[in-house]
Formats: sequence, C-alpha cells, structure tokens
Amino acid sequence: MARADLLKRLIQSYQKHDDRAFREAAEEIIAEERKKHHIVLANELERMLKNGNGHLDHGQLQKLAPPGSIPKDIEKGVALLELKWTNRFLDDLILSQEIRSALERVMREFREWEVLEANGLLPTRRVLFCGPSGCGKTAAAEAIAAELGLPLLYVRFDAVVSSLLGETAANLRRVFEYAQRGQWVMFFDEFDAIGRSRDDPTEHSEIKRVVNSYLQIVDNFTGRSLVIAATNFEQSLDPAAWRRFDDVIRFEKPTDEQIQRLVGKRLVPLKFSNAQVTEMVKQLSRSTYADAERVCLDIRKSCAIQGTRQVRKEDIAEALSRHAYRQAILEKASGNPVPMIDQD
Ligand SMILES: Nc1ncnc2c1ncn2[C@@H]1O[C@H](COP(=O)(O)OP(=O)(O)OP(=O)(O)O)[C@@H](O)[C@H]1O
Ligand SMILES: [Mg+2]
Repeated sequence: MARADLLKRLIQSYQKHDDRAFREAAEEIIAEERKKHHIVLANELERMLKNGNGHLDHGQLQKLAPPGSIPKDIEKGVALLELKWTNRFLDDLILSQEIRSALERVMREFREWEVLEANGLLPTRRVLFCGPSGCGKTAAAEAIAAELGLPLLYVRFDAVVSSLLGETAANLRRVFEYAQRGQWVMFFDEFDAIGRSRDDPTEHSEIKRVVNSYLQIVDNFTGRSLVIAATNFEQSLDPAAWRRFDDVIRFEKPTDEQIQRLVGKRLVPLKFSNAQVTEMVKQLSRSTYADAERVCLDIRKSCAIQGTRQVRKEDIAEALSRHAYRQAILEKASGNPVPMIDQD
C-alpha cells in the first residue's frame, strides 16, 4: 500500500478513536520504514507505539541482530564484543546542561543522517567520552543507545588488544566487519587500555600501531553506526587520536547540587527528609556519581531488609561509614591517604 494511504488510514483511525486500526496502520508504517533501512526511525516509532516511552523488549531487538557468530580473539578465545539491550535513558542520569546539550546534538545529527547526507554533510559519528571513573561515560553510552532505539555493541579494548603481532588490528577489523552488518551504538570501553600501556616506553611503538589501526579502521568504516570510545586517561592520548573524533565530551565529578539531585532520584521510593539529603550531600561532597549511587543503594537495601520505607538516621550513618571506609582503603592503595569522615 502506498504511504499516503497509510497516513490517511492512521489519521482516520485516530479521528474515529479506533485504537486497533490505528495500531495496524502504525505497524505498517514501521514495517515500511524498516524495509527502507530507516532503522532508527522504525525503532523509535515501535518504542512509542509500544508503551509511550518504553523501550524495545529483548525479543524485538533480537530481530535486529545480524546473523553469524560474534567474533572472538583467536589467542584468548574471548568474545570481542557483546550485544546489550539497554534500558537506561538520559532522564535517568544527572547531567550538566552542557553535557546534556552535547549528547542531544549527537543524537539529533544521527537521527537526521539522511538530511545531512542530502546536503553533502555527515553527522557526528565518532565521539570520545572522557573524564574520571564513575561519572557516567558508560551510562551515557547506554542511554544514547536506548534513546536511539539501537542495540549497544559493547567492545572491550582489553579483549581486542592481543599480544600476538598483528592480531590487534585483525581483531579490530573483525569487530568492524561485524558492525558493518547492522546499525548500532558501538561503544569502545576502556579505551584507556591504550592510555595505560602508553606509560610504558617498551610498549610505545606497538600501542601507537594499535591506535593508528583503530583510527584508520574507524576512518574507513562506512556502517551507519555511532562510534563512542571512553577513556579515563585522555591526557595520554595522541593528538592525532583526539583530532579524529568528531566530538569530545568530558564527564566531570558531580557538584554538591548534582549529588543532591542524584540522591533524591536514587532514594525513590523511600521516605526521607531534606535534612537527611543535606547530610548525605555534605559527606559525599567531591565523590563520584558511582559512589553516591552506591550509598543510596546501601540505604535502600537496609530499608528493604527491615521491611520499611522510612529512611532512618542509622541507615544513612551506616552507609556513609561503609563509603568512608572504602574510600580510605582506595586512597591508601593509591598512596594518597585521606582522613576518615566524621559521622556525627
Ligand atoms: N551522571 C550520572 N547520573 C546518574 N548516575 C550516574 C551518573 N554517572 C554515573 N552514574 C552511576 O554511576 C555508575 C557508574 O557509572 P559509569 O559506569 O557510567 O561510569 P564511567 O564513567 O563509565 O566509569 P569508568 O571510567 O570506571 O568506566 C552507574 O551505575 C551509573 O548509574
Ligand atoms: Mg565505564
């Protein structure tokens, strides 16, 4: 059926409040878009149709996975990548306005790929996420995949890097050959596997080769996917590597106000007072999002075990004390001891 007819049917069914006819017309439009390889749009429509703002279930997404087995490293026998169906959205994260706008811009360009292409332009396709551990790099990549309705093709750099000469480049080629067969958000986590090794002068030339292979392969990659790499060691990346990313987004440690918002979000559905949140923010100042989230989960677990929804002073004190203890161990291990925090 012609598209114009489908659109008319969609509007007529809406006017008649005929839910079933509306769904049928919408499903046909989605199938048509999918046939035209407008996969992002088809996934988004499917998601909207399913439950307003939910996400595709595993079965629906499975249909999108290309046939053939996932490539493995020949030496170690480990899978080079993992397909993930994420269900975290941008609204689940606390983001500065700057980062939120940058992420939305990347998604907007990706959705408008055809429009940009028709104008002789290309969307942002290669993005570097950097910044300290536990501040949202992986979480944001997952959220982008969910928002775009695409599976996350998760690649661990340490699985890709091989001690066999030439195997790292071969592994990267295998990953991108697989990626070429579908549309994804490709996420290269632990890009700092490279950063770390670069500190070692003996590894230097091999690592440089790995970075160059990666950049070359990404440069030549024609798949309609978004490639995101994440590193905690951006300072050790080559200027050449920096240049090849269309966009660089830095995830910072949260401000007190951001910790406050995170605590408010993560303690739901418990009952707690503003004073309790203020106390937590004071003690968690300069922590990462991951740390603040862990403290909240600790409190939720205590409440669940006690069978109550009311957060008690002791639950907070206990969770914060566990956090402080953990921090002290970490700081000691890094040769930079800090005093234990005051729990009163
Ligand atoms: N901006 C944020 N808003 C809300 N939660 C966050 C945010 N950043 C991180 N978190 C939470 O902290 C945890 C760790 O975050 P994430 O894995 O994204 O960190 P990362 O930056 O990828 O760290 P690493 O460099 O160690 O891989 C996640 O479970 C996530 O829910
Ligand atoms: Mg991460």
